[in-house]
Formats: sequence, C-alpha cells, structure tokens
Amino acid sequence: MEIKSSDLVSLFEKSLSDAPQKSLQEIGIVVQVGDGICRVHGLENAVYNEMITFEGGNKGIVLDLEENYVSIFLLYNSIPVVELETAYRTGEAFKTPVGMHLAGRVINAVGKPIDGLGDLVIEDRLPIEAAAPGVIERSPVNESLETGILAVDALIPVGKGQRELIIGNRGTGKTAIALDTILHQKGKNVFCIFVSIGQRQANLARTIRLLVENGAMEYTVIVSADSSDSVLCQYLAPYVGCTIGEYFRSKGHDALIVYDDLTNHAIAYREMSLLLRRPPGREAFPGDVFYLHSRLLERAGKIMAGGSLTALPIIQVQADDITAYIPTNLISITDGQIFLDDQIFKSGVRPAINIGLSVSRVGGAAQTKAVKKMAKTLGLELAQYRELLDFSQFGTDLDAIAQERISKGQRAVEVLKQAQYTTYTFIEEALMLFMLHEDRLDGIEISYVHTFVMQFVSYVESVYPKIYKVILDTQDVTSDVHDELKRIVQEFKTLFVLPDGRNA
Ligand SMILES: Nc1ncnc2c1ncn2[C@@H]1O[C@H](COP(=O)(O)OP(=O)(O)OP(=O)(O)O)[C@@H](O)[C@H]1O
Ligand SMILES: [Mg+2]
Repeated sequence: MEIKSSDLVSLFEKSLSDAPQKSLQEIGIVVQVGDGICRVHGLENAVYNEMITFEGGNKGIVLDLEENYVSIFLLYNSIPVVELETAYRTGEAFKTPVGMHLAGRVINAVGKPIDGLGDLVIEDRLPIEAAAPGVIERSPVNESLETGILAVDALIPVGKGQRELIIGNRGTGKTAIALDTILHQKGKNVFCIFVSIGQRQANLARTIRLLVENGAMEYTVIVSADSSDSVLCQYLAPYVGCTIGEYFRSKGHDALIVYDDLTNHAIAYREMSLLLRRPPGREAFPGDVFYLHSRLLERAGKIMAGGSLTALPIIQVQADDITAYIPTNLISITDGQIFLDDQIFKSGVRPAINIGLSVSRVGGAAQTKAVKKMAKTLGLELAQYRELLDFSQFGTDLDAIAQERISKGQRAVEVLKQAQYTTYTFIEEALMLFMLHEDRLDGIEISYVHTFVMQFVSYVESVYPKIYKVILDTQDVTSDVHDELKRIVQEFKTLFVLPDGRNA
C-alpha cells in the first residue's frame, strides 16, 4: 500500500490534538525552594489559594502573587521539591473530604486517614474557605449546649451556635474543659470535631485513647496537624475542621468544634508571613492575623434551616496576661471567654475558672430553665465572697454578715470543684445548685461539703425518681418541686453521717 506524505501529516496532527496538553501558561518552573516555601516562575494566571502540583509529587498552595513569580507553600515536608522542577496549575482551590461517616475517624489536614482504619467514606469534597452565613440565614442562639461542667453551665453557659473562648496559661486545664464537653455530648446528637494544631504526637495519642475509651469517638472527628507536619498543614487544619462541621450543620445536625489551640495556629501563620516577607507588626505577627481568626470563627453559628456549629477555640496566654495581641483579638471575636487562672489552679481549685474574668455574652438566653433558676444568685454571691476575701486579708474584724458571706462563698467554691472526666446532667446540676441556694450548708465542715451535696443528689435520684422525672420533663424546678426538695433536704440531713461519725 502506498502512504502519501499528506496522510502522515494529518495523522501526526491528530495525535497532537488528542494528547492531554497543558497550555504553556499553566506550567511553571521552580526557581527557589527552602523552608517549606518555593517560588515558581511562569504560572502567570495562577490565582490566590490555588492548588499547585509538582512533578516530584509534592503539592502546594499559592499564597503570594508577585510580578515575576508566585510563592507557594508546600503541603508535605517529606517530598522534596528541587529547583527547575516543573509545577502545574490545577485550577482548583484546596478541598477537604466531608461526609457523615467521617465521625469516628482521625484525619490529617490533607484529608488522609491516619488511624489505620482504611479508606474514608466520603460524600463530597468542599473548598475549605467559605463565606460565613449571613444575618438573614442565622437564627438566634437560644438552645443550651450542656458542657456537663457545673461552673460553666451555671455561670458561663454556652449556647448552640456560640463561640466561647477557652483561655489560660499553659497547663491550666484548657484541653480538659474542651474534652469533658465532648465526652458529655454522648447520646445528645451533637457531632464533635477536635482540631489539634501544632501539638506533640503523644498528646494527640492520649486524646484519641480518652475518646475511644469513653465511647466518644463514635460521634467525633479528629483533624490533626501536629508539630512535625508542615506549617501549611497547621495553617489549614482549622479551616478543614470547620468545613467538616459546616457539612454536619448543613445536614441539619448540631456540631461542636474545638480548636486546640489557635496560639499555635497564629504562630504557624506568622512563620508563613515572615517567609513571604510580609511586613511584621505587633509581636511580629502580620497585619492580617485578626482576619485569620475572624473569618474562621464567623463561620460558626446557628442557622434558620436547622443545625448549628458551636466553636470552642482555645488560646494560651503567658503569665495570665489576657491583654496580649492574639488573646485580645480572640476575646473581641468570640461571644465570651472561660478564663482559667494559674493561681486558682495552683491553689487546688479545679476546674480553675476565674469567674470574675469569664463571661458568656449570649449563653444566658440559652440556659436550661432549671439551672438558670437555681443559679440566679450564685454569681453575685461569689463576687461578694471574692471581694470580702481580699478585704479580710488586711486582718480587719468582719461582722457577722460578712462572715456568713465568706462561709457561703467557701461552700460554693467547694461545690463547683469537679474532677476531670466526670460531667453532670442538668438535673444533677440543678440539685447541687439548689443545695447551695436553699441550704447554707452551714453545719457542714468545708472538707465534707462536696460529698454531702453529691450524696444528696444520688439520694434524690434513688429514693425520689419521680421528682427526678418531673425536672427532666419540665426542664424546670417548679415551686411544687422546690417545696418538696426542701422537705427532702431535712430528711436527708437526719440520714447523712459525716465521715467522723456525726450527723449533719
Ligand atoms: N478538673 C480537673 N481536676 C483535676 N485535674 C485536672 C482537671 N482539669 C485538668 N486537670 C489536670 O491539669 C493538667 C493540665 O490539663 P490540660 O492538659 O487540660 O491543660 P492545658 O491548659 O490544655 O495544657 P497545655 O497548655 O499544655 O495544652 C492535666 O494533668 C490534667 O489532668
Ligand atoms: Mg492543652
């Protein structure tokens, strides 16, 4: 058979047009690389936040656009990128897998499972940067998110859709508050997301073990970017977690997200900004560090269509100084803060919540009726107690009223002490607060107060299950129940035997 040259040409042309081709503008060349960042020449149409893939298998995100090059942060520390390597545009933003079956899994910031439980069952992939719900879409925060921690539920209540900051020195029990809250959501239909940022791997392993042992992993997703991961992963992790939380919310569920902690997140971002040669501002943080956290936390909230996303960001301070740059930013973004005080922690009161400096700006509207009623005067009493305590240090003689207030305050502090991993139902909380409110617990020595109150609660539970049920059904302590409880206290007092053998 004779082949004409024109046939050959047309065949060649066809093969060229079929081949998957990148236009020249979508390919770039690495001109400089180091410290997890590289500069690439030639990606002229690349856009901010775009994913870039490298010939050698690494991936990155465009975070700076210059005239002659773009700066790309790399996702993986372990895959080398070399000079003159080719980089390709993907035309896509960074996305994370989402789905209801993510509950129970531990993933890293790039959406890969790290728990050895096989592939993820995913329903969609969503870009991690999204606009926060608008005012019209939002519904008021008017439902309680019980933490099971008496001091929080009674004095600084958190509502579904609220953003409550947990702030304190190193090692004052910040993570403990967040984890106890997650443990308490068991059977409450609240999906939890725990985002671990820049922590040591041992810490994460401990958290996972705790959640697994208490059956809390079933409704919890852990997103981890530990200290050995790239700074980019640490920067992305909270947005990944938030996107997963938003997905739960969009399906009509309540979700709770913990960011542990945003200090590490801000530090990762500072490192990135300095590498990008952005001008450093206060404490060497870049000017847009406020936006870093505001755009993340604005995405929490309760929406009209149903579903909510409650955020508990954690922030570490130094020497109890909550007026540093990042802490003040976060205090102004969130709807309140739980301040854990180093002095209080060291004095043995745990959880070490400083009631005076803690606040919940919306929680009151969302508090369970029973708890709200019983805790009405507690805040004031504790404030008076603290004031008098300072005053009494001058050695002045105190009158009878002042002494009584101090005695009452001391007993309140005792009742608010709570061991780690033990959380209370709202009925238990209401009963404990009732004891504080109604009965002064005067006859009982400070060291027995906690036992006395706890035993009263179990007494009511076991001997008067009807009362228990009424509180559960009405979510309230009605005046009938109140009267009945008063009678039960008297009865209980005749039965309670102090550890030293005396009656109360
Ligand atoms: N309610 C509590 N009762 C007793 N011990 C507690 C309580 N809460 C926390 N602790 C203990 O205090 C220590 C510090 O707690 P945790 O790790 O939660 O603090 P942190 O503020 O998150 O610390 P870091 O700043 O290192 O992250 C832990 O050993 C923990 O067991
Ligand atoms: Mg911690």
